[in-house]
Parts: sequence; C-alpha cells; structure tokens
Amino acid sequence: MKKILVTGGAGYIGSNTAHLLVRRGFDVMVVDDLSRGHAHNVAGIPFRRLNLSESGALADVLAREKADAVIHFAAYIAVGESTQNPELYFSNNVGGTISLLAAMAQAKVKRLVFSSTAAVYGMPKIVPIPEESPFAPVNPYGETKVMIETMLGWLDQYSGLRSIALRYFNACGSDPESDLGEEHDPETHLIPLLLKAIVTGNPITLFGDDYDTPDGTCIRDYIHVMDLAAAHVLAVENLLAGGASDAFNVGTGTGHSVLQVVRAVEEVTGNKVPYTIGPRRPGDPPSLVANSEKLKRTLGWKPKFPDLTDIVKTAWQFEQKRSATS
Ligand code: UFG
Repeated sequence: MKKILVTGGAGYIGSNTAHLLVRRGFDVMVVDDLSRGHAHNVAGIPFRRLNLSESGALADVLAREKADAVIHFAAYIAVGESTQNPELYFSNNVGGTISLLAAMAQAKVKRLVFSSTAAVYGMPKIVPIPEESPFAPVNPYGETKVMIETMLGWLDQYSGLRSIALRYFNACGSDPESDLGEEHDPETHLIPLLLKAIVTGNPITLFGDDYDTPDGTCIRDYIHVMDLAAAHVLAVENLLAGGASDAFNVGTGTGHSVLQVVRAVEEVTGNKVPYTIGPRRPGDPPSLVANSEKLKRTLGWKPKFPDLTDIVKTAWQFEQKRSATS
C-alpha cells in the first residue's frame, strides 16, 4: 500500500483529499499546525500537529512513515490578507515549502503534488485560461505560488523531484457523504457567505457591478471540492507510476458571475439573498475560467459536479448541518 503524507490535511481541500485517498486504498498521514485547519477534519486519520518550519521533525516523519509521496496543501489562502501582510504569506507559504522540500530531500521522497492556484495568472488575456498563459500574479498570495512552482521546475531538473502543480479555480461545495465542509475563519469566499447571509439575515456586500462582464459582476469557475480532491488522487497515482512533472488547471470550464451565483443560491435555498452592492475588491480579476482540457486528456479527470446548482446544494446541506449544531 502506498503511503502519502498530506500537509495541511486538516483544511478544507486537504481533508477532503485525505479522506478520499483513504477510501481509494492509500495509507495516509496528515501533518497540520491547526493554525487554520480543524482537528475534527482528520478524525480517523493518523495525524501529527506540526508546522512546516520544523524541517527536521518533518524529515523524521517522512522517513519513519516511509512516505512514497507528499501532497502539499499547507498554506495561507486569503488574497486580501496577503496584501495586508505579505511577509506572513512569503514566510508561511514559501518558507514553509522550502522547509518541506529540504525535509523531502533529506528523507529521499521524490514525488510531490502541489496546491497551486488560478491566481498565478493574474488578469489573463485569454479566458478560458490555458496552462501556457504567462505567470502574472496581481497579489502576494499568487506570487507565493509562482515562486514555489518556479522552484519545483528547478528541483525537477537538478534534484530528480517529480511534481504536479494543480492550479485550482474556486473550490466550493461539500462532500455529501462526509461531515467535512468549508469552515474558514474568517470566511471570505462567496458561496458560504451567501448562505450565511440567508441564515443570519445580515446582507452580504457584492464587490462591484461595473466590471466589463455581461451583468457587471466578476466571473469565476466554481469547482466542487470532491472534483478537486479526485484530481489530487489522479495526480499522485500518475507520479507514483513514473509520470513526469507537470502543471494542470482544475476547473469546470464554465464561468458564473457573482449575480448568477446569487440566483443559484436563491433557487437552492428558496430564500432571497439579502445583499448590497459595494465597491470593487482590490486585486479581483474580472474573469477567471479554466481551460481544463489538459487534465481531462492527460489524467482522465472528469468532474462529477459540473452544475453550479448541484454544487450549491451540497454547500447548503453542510451549512444547514453546521447551523443546527452551532
Ligand atoms: N465576492 C463578493 N462578496 C464577498 C466575497 C466575494 O462579491 O463577500 C466576490 C468576489 O469579488 C469575486 C467572487 O465573489 O468576484 C469570488 O470571490 P471569492 O473570495 O470566493 O474567491 P476568489 O475568486 O477571490 O479567490 C478564490 C480563492 C483563491 C484563488 C482564486 C482563484 O480564494 O485562493 O479563487 O480563482 F486564487
């Protein structure tokens, strides 16, 4: 049985992937410092509380567990926070990854799946975005991921580290078969905030309706977290089978405007979303939609939740469970 070390496995995408790996027959160990993740997300999975800066301890875990590969989620992800505190993002995301890479080198682990982001493309000229689009991040968060992808290119060439970078678009939804869901604190993402606005009655601010898009609001590619998790399983299987280093977009290929998401939420919940229109949020590109043909073609990935309404239904199920228990 292949052993996978999952960093950041107590977070939203990491925990869904860790549990899916277990269901697919992998041996899984999670490391997470719980600064943003939740211990309840790793119930039933071997877990060690560790910050990535503890390189020696990480190398010990990798060697003792005889890890065959690492899937590396552990990172801070809030674009706004990265503009307010770039030092934190460079130190946690880039510094943490350098420490992990050193530990992997020490333990001779040569396979890595890396959480990258659509934010590496900034304001792309071609949408849907192909992987060949140039790196042009417009915030420190996106830059941290560019820096890491760049390092991985050099380590492929000179250290024999084979890696796959998965560039996520807008992760959302929850696994109908588990209790895992999106629980960021503070929450900054559109779908959980729309659902919360319905639950609390407090209006959400929509950031700008004067973009050059059909209804004036920003367009994003909302991808179900289980489809993202499935992409990680395919990527790690590919590397373990001797696959080469690569990078893939992970999105549905369909864009939805903020107002279209509002309407989907209203349809699913049967409630009106209370909202106001505010100014644009700095650093928001008007449109980010993936061209994910390469992932489909190369790794045989196929999204199970291509429809936004189905995705919102799963997010709503989770929000209802959560508001019933909190
Ligand atoms: N939005 C609002 N009001 C809110 C929150 C969001 O109008 O209160 C809008 C945003 O302006 C944007 C859209 O909803 O147009 C989606 O915003 P999110 O904050 O949910 O997601 P982002 O597109 O900003 O970012 C997400 C991830 C990033 C990743 C990016 C890639 O958080 O890590 O997707 O597409 F880089």
